[in-house]
Amino acid sequence: MKRRTLFKFGAIGGLLGISQPAKASEFFVNSVKPSISGPIVLSTWSHGIEANKGAWEVLSEGGNALDAVEKAARVTESDRTNRSVGISGRPDRDGHVTLDACIMNHQSKCGSVGFVEGYEHPISIARSVMENTQHVMLVGEGAEDYAKWMGFKKIKSPIEEVKKDYKQWRKENKSLFEKPQINHENHDTIGIIAMDENGNLSGACTTSGWAYKLHGRLGDSPIIGAGLFVDNEVGAAVATGLGEAIIRIAGSHTVVELMRNGMSPEEACKTAVDRIIAKHDDLTGLQCGFLALNKHGEYGGYSVYNGFNFALKTNDFEGMKDAPFNRKW
Ligand code: GLY
Repeated sequence: MKRRTLFKFGAIGGLLGISQPAKASEFFVNSVKPSISGPIVLSTWSHGIEANKGAWEVLSEGGNALDAVEKAARVTESDRTNRSVGISGRPDRDGHVTLDACIMNHQSKCGSVGFVEGYEHPISIARSVMENTQHVMLVGEGAEDYAKWMGFKKIKSPIEEVKKDYKQWRKENKSLFEKPQINHENHDTIGIIAMDENGNLSGACTTSGWAYKLHGRLGDSPIIGAGLFVDNEVGAAVATGLGEAIIRIAGSHTVVELMRNGMSPEEACKTAVDRIIAKHDDLTGLQCGFLALNKHGEYGGYSVYNGFNFALKTNDFEGMKDAPFNRKW
């Protein structure tokens, strides 16, 4: 995605590269996914290819889905070229890179951190919250104190390249900076869902969130049920895109419940997207996508606009898949 294009977004407009309001409203459905045998991992967007490789090191050795999704998330969090995940992500309006992440396992145990600054692996802090505390969610200073206490290493952010971009953004967006309006930019969370060889499901989700967001903003990614949901009896789902819209319909939980009621992963993702569409008068730039996996190893995705894709790895396949969508940019 080119920054040049991204900066064309309107104040309540788009993310992920649109410059024109949407006109079409046809449905585009391109696939029905077969079930697979053996482990499977799916991750949002093209950074999912490398993330899946990390997951596969665990899954191919008979490891569990929880370890796999954490490892996958850590790969992307450590990628210094990634501007939407981890400490090399873009900052908020005040210049702080604040990170959100959550993780959930096959026993419905979950952990989450939000508004965390200066830690390379929020996903591992989230896992630690799940495993070592009685809580699900820690945010801000408390989450950072907890991370420090648990021995997670502090790291400097923003990185230099991002600082430079931020200074430029401030120059170009003076009035936006003074008035608390939102300039949507790219924010493509990595969400990962996996099933291990024992048929157990887990998921993880990590992001630096909406670029140049208001200081203090949390998106869907640290919210269990919004950015991620796993029910080992049914399936798992993750979300990407405009967190505010995903939270409004408890997106990932909705997808899992729709699968529980008999929908395929793709139908469930599509129905959740339809619900988002129905609840917003202005869809200009409102990109959201869901990715889902059920207990039979069937998977699917769906997004508001074209362009959402996901990385898939199984015993027989490694590569990208395009998700069907409701409308074209
Ligand atoms: N989906 C990521 C966010 O809205 O922050």
